[in-house]
Amino acid sequence: ADQTTVLADVRRGMIPAHVYNDREIFELEKERVFSRAWVFVGHESEIAQPGDYVVRRVLEDSFILTRDEQGEVRAHFNMCLHRGMQVCRAEVGNASHFRCPYHGWSYRNDGRIVGLPFHKDAYGGEAGFQRKGQRLLPAPSLATYNGMIFLSMDPDAPPLEEFLGDFRFYLDYYTKQSASGIELRGPQRWRVKANWKIGAENFAGDMYHTPQTHTSVVEIGLFREPKAEKRKDGATYWAGAGGGTTYKLPDGDLDERLRYVGYPQEMVDRMKEQFTDDQLKVIGDDGFMISAASIYPNLSFVHNWPRVGESDDVLPFISIRQWQPISEDETEVLSWFAVDAEAPEEFKALSYKAYLMCFGSTGMFEQDDVENWVSLTNTAAGSMARRLLLNSRMGILEDDEPVVPPLGPDAFHGPGEARTGYSEHNQRALLNRWADDLEKPPVQAATLTVGGPG
Ligand code: FES
Repeated sequence: ADQTTVLADVRRGMIPAHVYNDREIFELEKERVFSRAWVFVGHESEIAQPGDYVVRRVLEDSFILTRDEQGEVRAHFNMCLHRGMQVCRAEVGNASHFRCPYHGWSYRNDGRIVGLPFHKDAYGGEAGFQRKGQRLLPAPSLATYNGMIFLSMDPDAPPLEEFLGDFRFYLDYYTKQSASGIELRGPQRWRVKANWKIGAENFAGDMYHTPQTHTSVVEIGLFREPKAEKRKDGATYWAGAGGGTTYKLPDGDLDERLRYVGYPQEMVDRMKEQFTDDQLKVIGDDGFMISAASIYPNLSFVHNWPRVGESDDVLPFISIRQWQPISEDETEVLSWFAVDAEAPEEFKALSYKAYLMCFGSTGMFEQDDVENWVSLTNTAAGSMARRLLLNSRMGILEDDEPVVPPLGPDAFHGPGEARTGYSEHNQRALLNRWADDLEKPPVQAATLTVGGPG
């Protein structure tokens, strides 16, 4: 009954404060959210060549994400089939085989067992342990979109494209500015003593915190237009598995608006070839440019265009970030820099600099945000937090009618609901989705046996 009340409160936009630091809820999240959602683990450009690998986690489960000799992307559960040692202990590298450090079983990078020391003496050869057909456990579900690799712990997960839904329209702005897609640098990784949901909610559409939390960044003139005006005209939208914030651009045509945020004409030309008519209309006709966004449950994006150096020039950058839960009060942040693979080298270098200045472990925005999130998480652990319902109803009146109605189809050509001004529609949608998952039964998955009696 307790949990039912919590979820009912969440659904009316009144958030029980303890959900940001509650062990029982975290256990439920592990069982019901992260056991079924599609979770981002990396990008194909990180494992471009056969044998390239990176090791990534979904909660406690470690996976070797690799490109095998046939060029196929695979995710192997990083646990030896013999006595469970971690097969790969490096974070990144290139290998045709992985040899277990414990007793020396070895696996090809497509996962198949090749070497089993003393196979004949110890097992009686193939009669006792048949190597053929044995491989490291594959991730239950694996799929990619625009080179972004997601995995799901649910063997019967719905197709990734269905999970991403209409948010694919917006995802393209970050990940498909040319036919070559993006390349990544990083990730930088660090741990913060904060609940994982806070970052996801913030990036989903918290325009409201910028003038307060990021005052110093605004004051030093990192952005070239009047802040207040920009924020007032911004739009938040909710679409499919994601939600985000766009900024209203000044008057101008498509080319002028893209150049305004700092894209050189050659990149603008490629975007015009790459984006659909509606994707171009959102920028050119409606005048909106995507900024921060989140994909449920724990993946976020930021696209911004700060000043770099003394001049008036701004440089856009894109960052992909993941809020990897460690516990109810700790999160590992993975922060990648992303850039169009076809961008000029000079642009890539300056865009990277803009990213480092704002986000990443030393970024100014990052520092400001994390201080709030740690403090919030600490306070949510106490007994008083169990008596407090946080008001997350910005943008709706008492009868749930919106303060500002959504933009009509002529004013906004993207899918989903878009509205201007401040609101917490996106944060509510994210937590509603979370509440829906918490009510679902745990995912059932079969036990897999290896090389022995089934
Ligand atoms: Fe890997 Fe024994 S645990 S070879």
